[in-house]
Amino acid sequence: MANVLEVHELAKSFGGVQAVKNLSFNLAEGQLLAMIGPNGAGKSTCFNLINGQLRPDNGRVVIMGNKINGYQPRQVWKLGVGRTFQITSTFASMTVLENIKMAILSYHQHTQSLFSRVRKLYNEESMELLKLVGIEDQHDRACGVLAYGDLKRIELAVALANQPKLLLMDEPTAGMGPAERQSLMELTSDIVRTRNIGVLFTEHDMDVVFTHADRIIVLNRGELVTEGSPTEVRANNKVQEIYLGTNA
Ligand SMILES: Nc1ncnc2c1ncn2[C@@H]1O[C@H](COP(=O)(O)OP(=O)(O)O)[C@@H](O)[C@H]1O
Ligand SMILES: [Mg+2]
Repeated sequence: MANVLEVHELAKSFGGVQAVKNLSFNLAEGQLLAMIGPNGAGKSTCFNLINGQLRPDNGRVVIMGNKINGYQPRQVWKLGVGRTFQITSTFASMTVLENIKMAILSYHQHTQSLFSRVRKLYNEESMELLKLVGIEDQHDRACGVLAYGDLKRIELAVALANQPKLLLMDEPTAGMGPAERQSLMELTSDIVRTRNIGVLFTEHDMDVVFTHADRIIVLNRGELVTEGSPTEVRANNKVQEIYLGTNA
C-alpha cells in the first residue's frame, strides 16, 4: 500500500509554546487514521502544517511523494488533498447544488475550459456527489436553511469534488449529536474505502474513533504518545492516564 502522507520530524512553535514536537507518522491509501489527544495537544496545528496554512520550523510533510514545504494551501489542494473544516464552510445564499458545482468547477478549471456542454456534465457530476452523501433531495435549497448535519454532508461532498487521494478532517462531527456523528463517519468510511482515499481525522467522541479508525495516533503537548490499532491504543497505560482518564 502506497503512503499518501508522510510526516517526518515535524515541529512548530508559537512564541514559547511548542505546539508540535518532532512528530513523525505515515498514512497509507484507503486507511482511516485518527489523531486524538486533549485540547491543545497540537492536532489542529498539525493539520495546518499538512494543508499548507502553516510552515513548519523543522521537519517535512510529503504528500503522494511531493515534499510540500513552502507550498501554499491552493498548491496542496491541487495535489489532490480534500479537507473539511472545524466550522462549516458552505455558501449560505447558494443552493446545495450550486455549492457542489462550484467545487467541481474549481477542480476542473485548470484542465478544461467551460463549454456549456461541460457545465451540464458538472450538473450530473454534482448530483452524483449529492447522492453519494445522501442529500440529493435537498439540492435546490439554500445552504443557509439546512440542518447542521446536512451541511456537514455537503462539506464532505465539496471535499470529494477535488477527487482527493488524501482527506483531512479536523473535527468533522463537531456540534453533531452522537447518532449523527456515527452516521457521518460511517458514510465517510464507506466512501473512502471504495475510492481508496487516505483519511486523517480528529474526533472527540471515542466511540466514533474506536469504531471507524484503522489506526490511531495519540498526541499530548505536541508529542506523539503512542501509535497503533484501536485495540493497542485502548490498552495503552499512558493513553489511559493522559487522555482517557485512568482505567475507569
Ligand atoms: N496561531 C496560534 N498562535 C499561538 N498559539 C497557538 C496558535 N495555534 C495554536 N496555538 C497553541 O498551540 C497549542 C496547540 O493547539 P492546537 O493545535 O489548536 O491543539 P488541538 O487542535 O489539539 O486542540 C495550544 O497551546 C495552542 O494554544
Ligand atoms: Mg483543534
